[in-house]
Amino acid sequence: MFISLEGIEGSGKTSQIKTIADYLAASGYECVVTREPGATAIGRKIRSILLDPASERMDSTTELLLYMADRVQHVREIIVPALSDGKMVLCDRFYDATVVYQGIARGIGIHTVYSLHKLLLDGIQPDITFLLDLPPEEGLARAWKQIENGSRTGNESRFERETLRFHERVRAGYLKLAHEEPDRFRIIDAMKNPETVQKAIIKILAALLD
Ligand code: TMP
Repeated sequence: MFISLEGIEGSGKTSQIKTIADYLAASGYECVVTREPGATAIGRKIRSILLDPASERMDSTTELLLYMADRVQHVREIIVPALSDGKMVLCDRFYDATVVYQGIARGIGIHTVYSLHKLLLDGIQPDITFLLDLPPEEGLARAWKQIENGSRTGNESRFERETLRFHERVRAGYLKLAHEEPDRFRIIDAMKNPETVQKAIIKILAALLD
């Protein structure tokens, strides 16, 4: 099973993914925890270019192609081999992030993103996607707090520096996708405390795995 977590900056995906992995391991599933961008050695180099605040002059199409390049390497090197071995794959962001950040918020268009994904990766999709939803004001405040207290590096803050309006488009884009694909998406209220969020995700997963 291929599971992804999505959400705006500061939605808490990265800490939730660890708890989900622990739950899956305790339930006897072999699980690969991974992320985009930057899960492979090549991807880590791409990640540093993409998230570096000094990359402020990056063209939107360059940005799109770098995310796609990271994903091609990731899918072929990690995701497909793990799924073929019967492992669970738990991924912190995947294709939906490109649809929303580049396709919608940057204005490239979702059809361009979809066509490239179909062409390069045969349109591979997660089986289930948890969308951790919260208002961008709150998400950005949390993300900046993590940068200021050192738990997240300021060297990767190019998107946190985008306008509130940009992050509002990202949130609206995610919610639109979730409403269009209700069978795959589960919307989780990320304003709740981390334990409540964790319980909500695990309850859904337990029902699916039953
Ligand atoms: P994160 O690892 O903290 O989630 O940061 C990744 C950043 O990259 C985040 O701001 C969202 C952005 N992003 C895109 O714009 N497009 C993509 O396809 C992906 C995977 C991430």
